[in-house]
Amino acid sequence: MSTEAVANSVQLPPLENPNERAAVGAELQVVLQDLIDLSLVGKQLHWSVVGAAAHGLHLFLDELVGEWRELADVVAERAVTLGFVPDGQSSAVAAGSRVEPVAVRSLADHVVVWELGRRVAAVAERIRARLESIGAADLVTQDVLVRVVGALEKQQWLLRVQLGEKA
Ligand SMILES: [Fe+2]
Repeated sequence: MSTEAVANSVQLPPLENPNERAAVGAELQVVLQDLIDLSLVGKQLHWSVVGAAAHGLHLFLDELVGEWRELADVVAERAVTLGFVPDGQSSAVAAGSRVEPVAVRSLADHVVVWELGRRVAAVAERIRARLESIGAADLVTQDVLVRVVGALEKQQWLLRVQLGEKA
């Protein structure tokens, strides 16, 4: 074993499967891109919402943007903790995000809730689908992502009730 490998094995957290360290970093990178993009889409809708419920939604969207930025920070810092430097710059987000852009025009309040709700659900479902395999590589990263999914699913509920749907 080289000196560098010894140093790394002491400094970096020992994963359930250390061979998967880069793969776990790549998973966190993808989630980071989606969360940053949600925060950008949310801000776009904060500006473009119109209608009777626009004022409340305008304020609520800024709360959500703040939550996505916080979650992105937690995800990025988990990646760094594992020795993987994430890229949260606009070029990486534009190249890798799976969040659909929204139309650049005024959007009615109910359309905003619907369009945002399905994007939040899509991000949550994609992360949830990867939880088991991430857990096999690193249980602590799985825990971080479980909390991300929990937060996104709560947001889905808060959006859903605005459409008058029952819990
Ligand atoms: Fe604002």
